[in-house]
This record gives sequence, structure tokens and C-alpha cells, in this order.
Amino acid sequence: MSQTSPIIVALDFSTEKEAINLVDQLEPQLCRLKVGKELFTRFGPTLVNKLVAKNFDVFLDLKYHDIPNTVAQACLAAADLGVWMLNVHALGGEKMMVAARDALSSDDAPLLIAVTWLTSSGQAELDALGIKATPQEMVSRLAVMTKNAGLDGVVCSAQEAPMLRKNLGDEFYLVTPGIRLSDAKSDDQCRVVTPQKAIQDGASHLVIGRPITQAEDPYKVLQEIVKSIA
Ligand code: C5P
Repeated sequence: MSQTSPIIVALDFSTEKEAINLVDQLEPQLCRLKVGKELFTRFGPTLVNKLVAKNFDVFLDLKYHDIPNTVAQACLAAADLGVWMLNVHALGGEKMMVAARDALSSDDAPLLIAVTWLTSSGQAELDALGIKATPQEMVSRLAVMTKNAGLDGVVCSAQEAPMLRKNLGDEFYLVTPGIRLSDAKSDDQCRVVTPQKAIQDGASHLVIGRPITQAEDPYKVLQEIVKSIA
């Protein structure tokens, strides 16, 4: 398998040592890596540089949301780190997303995707904001806005993937967290799907954290997941 693995391993660790220890058990041919706010805030560009130097594709998951100029400059800074993908909040609006996209116009620029409506927020949060829509309508509206702004895709729940795949076409990236192996014990993720189901439903990439990072043998679990969706 080449550098086209749909698996993105979420490096949710509080120490660099733990993160690197896990990464050293994985292979760039089998997965990409996601660096989120905790790891980046603690270890920053130096850690990203180390992961890129190990030939991993890095998804920098910092969910930028600010005025268009600030987000555009942050995207440029992220691109300078050599990351494969980065993201913004679609709630920042179309102008902000267009500015981000325009900042990443070079041929080797990272992919740019947007978070629509966080899976941790539901109807109550929309009601509190006075937004008259269901979470599903919100996801759909923000995903269309993301596509119109020229971005490459969205982060979404696998349960939203069939609707978004149907409405937004085959080329749009649908990056889905909330993935669990069928025999996994339950944790804080409630709306979960298996890797096979997520891919069948139209996800292009799967963000997987604990099922791999907390496994006794992370490499074996990763290999099994890759095999199961081949
Ligand atoms: O350990 P687990 O597989 O639940 O990790 C999922 C990863 O995806 C975490 O890094 C989490 O922050 C991220 N994520 C999520 N739900 C979203 C967006 C991102 O679980 N809606």
C-alpha cells in the first residue's frame, strides 16, 4: 500500500515521549497522523517537524476560527510546516474559508478541510444560539458552504457521511472520527461506527485514536483495520 492509507491515527497524548513511542511502532505506508490542540500547544512545530521527518503525512487539527486575514496567515504558517492537511471551523463563515483557501494556492499546498457542527454539540446548543435548524441541517448547510468556498472536504460523523457523499459528490473529502472496532468496549464516544461501515457509507478518511493508541499491539490493530477496509 502506498501513501494513500485512509487511516489517520489521532496522537492524543500529553507527552512527546508517548507520542513518539507510538509513532515508532507505526508505518507511514499504513497510516497518517493527527496532531491536535493539546499536543501542538505543548510541543508545537518541533514535534510536527519530527513527524514529517519520519515521512508521515500530518493532519494538523487546530480548527482555525478567526477573522479572514488571521486565519489565512495561520494557514500559511501551517503549510510552512509541511503538513498534509489542516482545518478551519466552517462557522467562521464563507469569507474566512475563501481567505484560507486563497492563502493555500501553491501546487504543494496542504489539503484544507472544515469542521462543520461538532459532534459534541446538538440541538440544545443550536437552540441556545437561536439557530432554527437541526444538527443535521446545520451540518449540511455548513458542508455546502465549505464546498462553495473551494475547500477540499469536511470533518463529519460517519453517520452524516451518506448524506454528504450523496449531496457533495465523490471528490469531496469526508474525514470521520468516532470509529470503533466491533468488539471494543464503550467509552465517551457514543455515536460510533466500525471502519468497514464508515468506508461503505462514504467516508474517505477515518480518524482513529484510542482503538489504536491504547491497544496492546498498536501495529497489529492498525494492520487489521487496513486489511478490513482494503
Ligand atoms: O480516541 P478516539 O478514536 O475517540 O479519538 C478521536 C479523535 O477525533 C480525537 O482526537 C478527537 O478529538 C477527534 N474528534 C472527535 N469528534 C469530532 C472531531 C474530532 O472525536 N467531532
